[in-house]
Amino acid sequence: MIVAIDGPSAAGKGTLSRRLAATLGYHHLDTGLLYRAVGARLLATGADPADAEAAAAAARKLGPADIAREGLREEDVGRAASVVAANPAVRAALVEFQRRFAAQPPGAVLDGRDIGTVICPGAEVKLYVVASAEVRARRRHDELRGRGEPATYAAVFRDLQERDARDQARGTAPAKPAEDAIVLDTTDLTADEVFAQAIGIVRSRSS
Ligand code: CDP
Repeated sequence: MIVAIDGPSAAGKGTLSRRLAATLGYHHLDTGLLYRAVGARLLATGADPADAEAAAAAARKLGPADIAREGLREEDVGRAASVVAANPAVRAALVEFQRRFAAQPPGAVLDGRDIGTVICPGAEVKLYVVASAEVRARRRHDELRGRGEPATYAAVFRDLQERDARDQARGTAPAKPAEDAIVLDTTDLTADEVFAQAIGIVRSRSS
């Protein structure tokens, strides 16, 4: 059983996916970490994330240890991730790893942008989690402040809009709901309410 959770930045995919995986006893992969790890490798070597060849080489060398590194959640890494994610060679290099992860028994929850459309088009459950840009910026701002990272709401909001635009405009695997995805708008929902709806959908598909 594969559960695909896609959607834009800070819509609540991570929180929902972790909780679904823990409840179902499934494996969980935050696929954003793969792109973040590629971005982090480039930043560490002083390479430009927009350098297509350097980014593709970094993606091909990526191993499981790279996605367990510290610092991948930092904002500059997120920005680099968003740039390398538009590179088709980077995306191609990461496909097999994600598909193998998804195939593990008894099941897997993968969250990202293109899980239901490109990585696992046959997933039994596909959710596309959205929320208004204002609410997503507020959530991301709270998260950063909670970790002690300095950030203004205005800067977070601007950054989120730039990432949305890059994710949606890219030619390869643009972020969009699969035709058979259920769209879950979390703008006015608590994390508990989102989880209740999602687990209900998963259970209805697995019985
Ligand atoms: O939530 P946020 O965008 O900050 O981060 P993330 O989900 O960790 O993803 C980092 C970046 O990787 C995003 O800005 C996307 O551009 C990209 N990404 C992607 O293209 N495809 C995925 N399956 C996951 C992430």
